[in-house]
Amino acid sequence: MNRSVYRSFTTQVLPLPYPKEDFTGKTVLITGANTGIGLEAARHFVRLNASKVILGCRDVEKGNAAKRDIESTNHVDATSNPGRVEMWQVDLASFDSVKNFCQRAAKLDRLDIVVENAGILGMTYTVAEGYERITTVNVISTWLMALLLLPVLRATKEKFHTGSAESRGDSNVPHLVIVGSNAHFYTVFDGRDKPSIMEHYRGDSDMFHRYANTKLISLFFAREVAARMLERKGRGKPEVVLNVVEPGSCKTQLLREKEAWPWAYKAFVTVGFGLVGRTAEMGARTYIWAAAAGWKSHGLYLEDCKLSTPHEFVESAEGAKLQKKIYGELVEILEKISPGVTENI
Ligand SMILES: NC(=O)c1ccc[n+]([C@@H]2O[C@H](COP(=O)([O-])OP(=O)(O)OC[C@H]3O[C@@H](n4cnc5c(N)ncnc54)[C@H](OP(=O)(O)O)[C@@H]3O)[C@@H](O)[C@H]2O)c1
Repeated sequence: MNRSVYRSFTTQVLPLPYPKEDFTGKTVLITGANTGIGLEAARHFVRLNASKVILGCRDVEKGNAAKRDIESTNHVDATSNPGRVEMWQVDLASFDSVKNFCQRAAKLDRLDIVVENAGILGMTYTVAEGYERITTVNVISTWLMALLLLPVLRATKEKFHTGSAESRGDSNVPHLVIVGSNAHFYTVFDGRDKPSIMEHYRGDSDMFHRYANTKLISLFFAREVAARMLERKGRGKPEVVLNVVEPGSCKTQLLREKEAWPWAYKAFVTVGFGLVGRTAEMGARTYIWAAAAGWKSHGLYLEDCKLSTPHEFVESAEGAKLQKKIYGELVEILEKISPGVTENI
């Protein structure tokens, strides 16, 4: 799979609209918010009047430093206004940690926006929770969290947002935003012909494309979940908008493991990001857009603060079959981790 490199490069250098949405009254949760795009998105949400912004961070110290940083740039008086920015610990390399985090979130009075931003890019094979670590973090835990949080998003819709999203075409409905990547354009997806895709990626096959493959698997799963949410909505489940956003190539700590990469690739990426990489703040604008994109974005892939389309392979007949297969396999895995969780779809 590939994509027009020209297109990727030209869109990268154009500025994106500065976010002006209003999140007054809303509670926003964003994972991986201690640095990079997540931190800048959290800063925007606070500036744009969100009542509560929860930073889901793996490292408590880094998370608390990010909280203080956001409060100082947004002039939040943490003493007179405690709870406007909160830091909650979560490690996506641990299923128990994700479950505990979501149990805590289930007690919130409201949860309007979830941005699942935490993610890793690496080429070294290590295992977390019995699966390859990048697959665990970028796919399994990301979706465990998404499905565990759907009930509180739906309850928020019931309590605070009346009317249907389609009829109002608005941005008020709770949004579940999954962070994807255009890296999915650049993989051969060697698991596509395997009897079990998730078993294949339990092993160390093609670590070079592993990050791209995890983002592709997550995108397939998102599309299937979004379609099934629509069916269940017809049977009376309240609406939640689910979309997948790609922030563009941004200069962050995402490439922190690059010392271990093949030198030619390392050089290509370093030069490419140096030339056209967005700032984390610019990339974060795409998250804000996605978090208020409304019903028209449900089940879609978003980039550059616009509705977009994934690689054509995703929408091909083969892609449609793979989507169902991946859905079935991940449902089985998620049910073992948290029985009944896929009923939340
Ligand atoms: N930067 C890009 O060019 C680009 C392009 C497309 C998509 N993305 C996606 O954007 C998202 C954010 O990436 P970024 O560029 O901002 O990278 P980053 O600077 O490395 O930030 C990643 C964040 O995820 C957190 N994280 C990693 N593993 C975690 C775990 N096991 N549990 C909880 N949190 C964990 C990190 O926490 P620690 O700091 O504690 O490790 C950090 O807060 C990722 O999903 C990435 O795939 C990035």
